[in-house]
Amino acid sequence: MSDNISISVNETIQHIQICRADKMNAFTDEMYQSVATALKKSHKADGIKVNLISGVPGCFTAGNDISDFYTYAEKGNFSPGIIDFLTTLGTLDMPLILAIDGPAIGIGTTMAFHADLVYATPEAIFATPFADLGLTPEAASSYLMPKTMGHARAYEMLALGEKYSAKDACRAGFVNKIIPSDELISHSLNIAKKLSKKPESSLLATKQLLKTEQEYILTVMEKEVEIFTKQLQSKEAKAAFSSFLNKTK
Ligand code: COA
Repeated sequence: MSDNISISVNETIQHIQICRADKMNAFTDEMYQSVATALKKSHKADGIKVNLISGVPGCFTAGNDISDFYTYAEKGNFSPGIIDFLTTLGTLDMPLILAIDGPAIGIGTTMAFHADLVYATPEAIFATPFADLGLTPEAASSYLMPKTMGHARAYEMLALGEKYSAKDACRAGFVNKIIPSDELISHSLNIAKKLSKKPESSLLATKQLLKTEQEYILTVMEKEVEIFTKQLQSKEAKAAFSSFLNKTK
């Protein structure tokens, strides 16, 4: 279990908190693995009915750790944690709520398209600067984003790298509601509690009925990983990683 992921279970609600504040909650492989393991455990055998993922006050996540991207570029492949996390997101049968404050970059934005409910503060910023890093969409965002918000807006985020505010994200259909930052966690936990009181079989069947394309989503993810891995090794990507890492040193 990663020290940067904190997990608390209260009755039937599992709260997974990303806590790597000194690095803007950037995801390492160990962190992906810990979240994936926690989500996979959340089956009825464990008595968990709802999962909530949040960051720390002022930061959801700055996306994948860029120094790890550099290492993957050198090695030519990802570590297994990312793949496990993506597959888990794409196949999760339990309800998933996200509570987003501050930056939600890269996977921070794309995981919203797998969640069932998303709450964000007025300070939330959504961005998928893949093309700026010489990269391409991941987490089935190449399919789920245009499906949710239309091609024009998806392209604006995925290729142009435009940032979306919480209001933009609400309008685009991937955030449910804007909540003041000091109420974000209590609001999200209240909603989780409300959901958890409903019959489990109804919750599971409803999600299954709404998410009919699991198999296709896994195929999209696989294709994206193949292209992303090639892009990671491009000179443009390596230059973008070096530039970020040198700037922030
Ligand atoms: N990977 C590794 N380290 C990261 C990181 C990332 N994705 N994002 C932030 N950090 C680190 C910085 O290197 C810095 O570390 P240092 O204090 O040891 O130098 C620390 O977190 C604080 O980041 P900083 O950039 O100084 O904070 P900021 O408030 O000025 O900016 C962001 C916040 C999120 C806008 C900015 O950090 C950023 O753009 N991060 C990269 C986002 C990204 O491109 N992610 C990949 C998506 S595919």
